[in-house]
Amino acid sequence: VKRVAVIGAAGQLGSALVKVLEERGLEPVPFTRGALDVCDHDGTKATLAEARPDAVINTAAYLAVDLAEDEVTQAFAVNAIAVKNLALVTAALDVPLVHVSTDYVFGADASRSTPYTETDAPGPQGVYGNSKLAGEYFVREYAPKHYVVRSAGLYETIGSRKKGGNFIETMLKLAAAGRSLKVVEDQVLTPTYTPDLAAAIVELLRTEAYGLYHATNGGDCSWYAFAGAIFELAGVEADLSPTTTAEYGAKAPRPAYSVLDNTKLHAAGVTPLRSWRDALAAYLSRRNA
Ligand SMILES: NC(=O)c1ccc[n+]([C@@H]2O[C@H](COP(=O)([O-])OP(=O)(O)OC[C@H]3O[C@@H](n4cnc5c(N)ncnc54)[C@H](OP(=O)(O)O)[C@@H]3O)[C@@H](O)[C@H]2O)c1
Repeated sequence: VKRVAVIGAAGQLGSALVKVLEERGLEPVPFTRGALDVCDHDGTKATLAEARPDAVINTAAYLAVDLAEDEVTQAFAVNAIAVKNLALVTAALDVPLVHVSTDYVFGADASRSTPYTETDAPGPQGVYGNSKLAGEYFVREYAPKHYVVRSAGLYETIGSRKKGGNFIETMLKLAAAGRSLKVVEDQVLTPTYTPDLAAAIVELLRTEAYGLYHATNGGDCSWYAFAGAIFELAGVEADLSPTTTAEYGAKAPRPAYSVLDNTKLHAAGVTPLRSWRDALAAYLSRRNA
């Protein structure tokens, strides 16, 4: 594998992938939405056939979890129907497809308290999770050389895109403005730093051990605990208190527990990702550099 097409290249994970591919001596072929809209099936086919990549990584997604409850057609168009097309196109080109999915394919089991493995039955709750799961099934059915990589709680390097504004920056901005902050304590997951996930994906791509994988930073925490660690590691005083998902009242349901077991990824030969806390510390030191 040398030339690797990255779809959704302007996104959090897409931009990290382009950088890691360059660092590892591979040749990224980045496609932003303007250059390749996955919902344009014929255009996707023609563009990829012309680019002649050795592998394709799809990070494009409809990610507005709450809005998806109303925009069902749009969510499924990007997260499932377009992914079916990508699976067919990459299969016809006989190149591997890496497709990125989410911990939100789990969550329906309210009593769960141990990390999910790849053999656990999925149980999505809302439109977003259902549309992403449908996308996974298309890839697994139509693209023989596939890696489906589920991750969680992504945040990117500060300043890597013009858009900016991830959870960490939002917390720091609100604390600096002297606002009191309430953050949910009943959603437990593993926040994951996109450069770490990108490095794992690029390693995985070189294994030819096709299949379904879970890939996150190590350990777990609630969003409330994550916010606490942000302030602690940044040395910022903040008026932080816990709240509940019910009190917060978002439109779409979210998993109470969606920690992903990474054992299979490590067994495939991919270096374990560092703990979420170490990744957060790295993010913050890079931010202040
Ligand atoms: N963010 C998370 O917390 C999280 C957690 C678990 C899994 N994931 C998964 O990780 C992957 C990457 O997420 P991310 O956080 O990097 O998302 P992101 O920053 O929003 O990046 C997604 C990119 O895809 C582009 N895109 C959207 N619709 C497209 C289309 N029809 N054709 C081509 N490109 C399109 C977006 O462009 P525009 O900006 O122009 O819309 C954006 O640049 C997704 O598969 C997501 O489901 C994310």
